[in-house]
Amino acid sequence: MGNIFDNLGKKTVFKDKKPLDHRFLPENLPHRNEQIMQIAKYWSEALNNVTPSDVTLYGKTGTGKTAAAKFAKEQLNEAAKDKNVFVRVEYIRCTDYTTEYQVIAQLCQQLGRNVPHRGWTKGEIVNTFRDIFRQTSFGKKLILIVILDEIDILLEKDGDGILYTLTRTDNVSILSISNYVDFKKFIKPRVMSSLRDKEIVFPPYGADQLADILSERAELAFDEGVLEDDVIPLCSAMAAKEEGDARYALDLLRTAGEIAVDEDSDIVRGEYVRQAKDVIEHNKVTDIIRTLPSQQQRVLEAILILTQQNEEITSGKLYDTYKEVSKGDSVTYRRIFDFINELEMLGIISTNTISRGRGKGRTNIIKLQCDDKLLENTLYAI
Ligand SMILES: Nc1ncnc2c1ncn2[C@@H]1O[C@H](COP(=O)(O)OP(=O)(O)OP(=O)(O)O)[C@@H](O)[C@H]1O
Ligand SMILES: [Mg+2]
Repeated sequence: MGNIFDNLGKKTVFKDKKPLDHRFLPENLPHRNEQIMQIAKYWSEALNNVTPSDVTLYGKTGTGKTAAAKFAKEQLNEAAKDKNVFVRVEYIRCTDYTTEYQVIAQLCQQLGRNVPHRGWTKGEIVNTFRDIFRQTSFGKKLILIVILDEIDILLEKDGDGILYTLTRTDNVSILSISNYVDFKKFIKPRVMSSLRDKEIVFPPYGADQLADILSERAELAFDEGVLEDDVIPLCSAMAAKEEGDARYALDLLRTAGEIAVDEDSDIVRGEYVRQAKDVIEHNKVTDIIRTLPSQQQRVLEAILILTQQNEEITSGKLYDTYKEVSKGDSVTYRRIFDFINELEMLGIISTNTISRGRGKGRTNIIKLQCDDKLLENTLYAI
C-alpha cells in the first residue's frame, strides 16, 4: 500500500483556489469604479495634508464594500509614499474589536504603540492614542483614516463612544461600512453633529455584472477550458436573485468546482452549480441551527412538528407545542416572541400577520423557510 496522501489532491480543476476565497483582494473591481473614485475624491484631501471628510459606505451583503475600501486603502498608502505627507489608513473589523477600548487599543498597536488589550482605563488608552498625533514625522503630522467595517455591531454593543472619541481627535477621518441604512439610529445627536459624513451607496449587482466579476476570478482560479459555458451565467443568475451578492456567486462557483473534484470530473458542469446551491444552503442552515441556544432549538422543533402536521402555526399553538417538547423546562410566552423574531432575522422562518375579520383581531402566522427534512436531520443529530 502506498502512502495515504499520495493520491490526494492530484486531479483537480483548480489552478489556484485562493482567488475564490472571500478574503482575496482582486487587482481590479469591475463595476465599482464609480464608488472607488468617490472614496478617492474625498481621501485625496489627505495628500494635500488636509484631514478628509468622514465617509460612510452602505449596501447589502456582498456588494463589494469591504473590497472597495481595502482597495482604496492600498491605493492611498501607495500614493502617499511618493509624497511628502504622513498618511495612514488602518482597517478595523468591528466583529473582531467590539468595544471602543478594543478599537483604540488595536489602532495604537497598528500604529506601533504597545498598549495592553485590557486593564487600562479608557482615559489612559485614549490619551495614548491622541499622543501619537502630537509627534511629527519629517515636519508633518500624521493624518489617520480609520476604516470601521461592520460598524453596526460595535454601535449596537458598545454605543457611539468610539465615534465620539474619533471625531474629536484632530487629524482623524472615519470611513464606516454598514449593511443598514438606519445604523445611525445608534448615534446620539451630540456625536452626529461632528460626524459630517459623505454617503456612498453600493447597489446590488445585476446578473451581467456578477458574470464579469466571476469571469475575472475564474481565469485566475480554474485551469483553462474546464468550465462549461453555462457555469458562470448560472452562478450569476442565481446570485442576482439572492440580492446581487457577489460573495454568494463566488461560493457557488467554488463549490461547483469542488463538486467536480469530488466527482472526479475534468470539467465543471452546469448541474454542479445547482448542486452547489443545495450544499451551500445546507451548510448555512445546519451551521445556524447547531449554534442556536437549546431553548430556541426546542422552539424550532415545535415549528417542525406543526409544519409536518400541516397545521397553521399561530403563536399560541406554537407555545403549547413548545411546552410539550421542552417537557416542563420552558421559557415564558413573552420570551417566545423574541425567539420568533430572532429566527425570522436568521431567515429560518417567516411571519405574516393576518386579520381574522371584524372583531376577531389579528394573528401571527409562522412559516418554516427552510427544508423541513434538513431541519429534522439537523435537530435530531444534535
Ligand atoms: N466588483 C467586484 N469585483 C471583484 N470582486 C468583487 C467585487 N465586489 C465584490 N467582490 C468580491 O465578493 C466578495 C464579497 O465582497 P465584499 O466582502 O466586499 O462585500 P461586502 O459589501 O463587504 O459584504 P458584507 O456587507 O457582507 O460585508 C469578496 O470576495 C469580494 O472580493
Ligand atoms: Mg464587508
